[in-house]
Amino acid sequence: MSRRHFLLASSVAAFAQSPNDRAGTAVIGTGNRGSYLLTSVIEQPDTRVAAVCDLKADRLDKAASAAAKDNPFVTKEWRKVIERKDVDAVYVATPPHLHSEMAIAALEAGKHVYCEKPVGVNARQVRDIVRAAKRSNKVFVAGQQMRTMKAHMAAVEKIHAGIIGEVYLVKAQRHANADLPHDGSSGDWYFDASKSGGYLVEQSVHNLDLCNWAANMIPVRCAGFGSNMRYKGQPGGRTIFDNSNLIYEYPNGAKLNFTQNVFHPRQLPNGSQMVYVYGEKGAADIMTTSTVFFHDGRDREVLHNKPAEDRHAHTRMFFDLIKGTGKNAADWRVGATAALTAILGHEAMTKQRIVTWQELGVEL
Ligand SMILES: NC(=O)c1ccc[n+]([C@@H]2O[C@H](COP(=O)([O-])OP(=O)(O)OC[C@H]3O[C@@H](n4cnc5c(N)ncnc54)[C@H](O)[C@@H]3O)[C@@H](O)[C@H]2O)c1
Repeated sequence: MSRRHFLLASSVAAFAQSPNDRAGTAVIGTGNRGSYLLTSVIEQPDTRVAAVCDLKADRLDKAASAAAKDNPFVTKEWRKVIERKDVDAVYVATPPHLHSEMAIAALEAGKHVYCEKPVGVNARQVRDIVRAAKRSNKVFVAGQQMRTMKAHMAAVEKIHAGIIGEVYLVKAQRHANADLPHDGSSGDWYFDASKSGGYLVEQSVHNLDLCNWAANMIPVRCAGFGSNMRYKGQPGGRTIFDNSNLIYEYPNGAKLNFTQNVFHPRQLPNGSQMVYVYGEKGAADIMTTSTVFFHDGRDREVLHNKPAEDRHAHTRMFFDLIKGTGKNAADWRVGATAALTAILGHEAMTKQRIVTWQELGVEL
């Protein structure tokens, strides 16, 4: 049996466990992101919410009410979710340090997995998830949803087709005007680097992935500095940085110059998030104006006309893949390289030296 036929056959078999041929879907972690993902599942015609799970009673109740028409199994115990026969697909939307254990257990139980980013907060977790995804014949999608945004796909396609020639430098940033609220919905895990990985790993993982995707390379090494300037010791026990300043090197010698901070006033020009890709023929601004500027005096070229986006495109891709159609734009390799790029930056800052990709020890 070819791999494709095998995948199709296994998907049909998995669906057959669910009433009405709708994929029985569970969401583990129904907080901020998980409740949004739950909505995306509810809005698909070919799914049913088979289970919802969260440790916090209020969030669990809210999720159970949102999915009431499907009468889901409701639990605080995530292992009970993946044991269920009527669960074909599992969303993992818990804090980052829990992703790998939950996603691996779900894959091993024969479930399709949509795992929120970052897929892990350290290289070992990423390595384990890569191994499990490679061993499994189920769909694995990482929550790197920039990969299914039409605007980014169009811009990256043109860069890959050579509009700026060889990539020389990527200059990018993800800045915010303040820390996340210290007593907010994620305040109980966010400021602990061992749980979130810090802003670089938890948030900039999206931006760093876009940089790698546009450059069509992954870095070989990284150097950088991080510190706390605005939020020293706040909240108590804080182990994440409030600013990160990094230089990565790509295999062709090109650099990725990346900053993250939480002291970028809203009114400061040039936007809090940007990605400029410089190359031999010119430079592309792919986050703000979506325009290429050339060295040879040619008129600037717009990369796309801001196509309408489906806010649930990533979830749609997940269920199409389960049915055996479409291409996985955010597979384990995307999830792993995005997380590892961020982890590489974090390690360079905490070890205060150049750290190589090879040192991370993850075979892709
Ligand atoms: N793709 C995106 O753009 C995007 C956006 C926001 C968040 N996220 C990711 O989603 C994840 C969750 O972030 P959030 O903002 O929703 O955080 P959150 O704190 O609002 O939600 C996490 C939920 O997980 C629950 N939880 C914790 N441990 C659990 C366990 N053992 N079993 C069951 N539930 C458990 C918590 O009670 C909480 O309700 C993070 O990995 C974050 O990086 C992704």
